[in-house]
Amino acid sequence: MITIISGTNRQFSKTLIVSQAYEEILKQSGNECQIFSLLELPVDFAFSYLSDPKTIEFDSLINKYIRPSSKLIIILPEYQGTFPGIFKLFLDGINPIDLQHKKVAMVGVSDGRSGNLRGLDQISNALNYLSVSVYPYNLPISGIKKMVNSEFKLVDEVTLKLLQKHAKGFLEF
Ligand SMILES: Cc1cc2nc3c(=O)[nH]c(=O)nc-3n(C[C@H](O)[C@H](O)[C@H](O)COP(=O)(O)O)c2cc1C
Repeated sequence: MITIISGTNRQFSKTLIVSQAYEEILKQSGNECQIFSLLELPVDFAFSYLSDPKTIEFDSLINKYIRPSSKLIIILPEYQGTFPGIFKLFLDGINPIDLQHKKVAMVGVSDGRSGNLRGLDQISNALNYLSVSVYPYNLPISGIKKMVNSEFKLVDEVTLKLLQKHAKGFLEF
């Protein structure tokens, strides 16, 4: 199982649209995959994520999305020049054992020009520390606003091809 983590809890995020495009690519090539949007986190997550034991709601998300997945694709929007705080909270809430030795690939999404490359590099350091195997080719998607149509679909042909190439490389990783 491959889980795509849509790394923001912002309603109507473009990151979720990119996640859906990635999911379609993986499904077309016959891979079992699912999307975990951080919108699914419990509303009190910021004040419950360090509870011990974890809340039942959080544990059932980890059971569904993280434990059964050998590979994770993390799609991270650029907020204030880096990844969203909610993603770091999510990472802090996970027991490191649940991440160890998984393979992770990353895609950045921004309105601006950098495609969150800085944020991807920053989170790579934490993932390396957690003994995750990080796929070395991060894919930055910049200028995302112009790439989505009125039906909330990613329609930019070049970006779709880059996603396909990224997926192919990560499946072989
Ligand atoms: C809190 C916040 C901070 C943002 N900071 C940046 C930024 O530093 N650089 C940038 O290019 N875009 C920035 N954006 C725009 C996002 O990159 C843009 O909304 C894009 O669609 C990805 O975010 P989304 O998945 O929430 O839609 C920011 C958006 C939000 C909500």
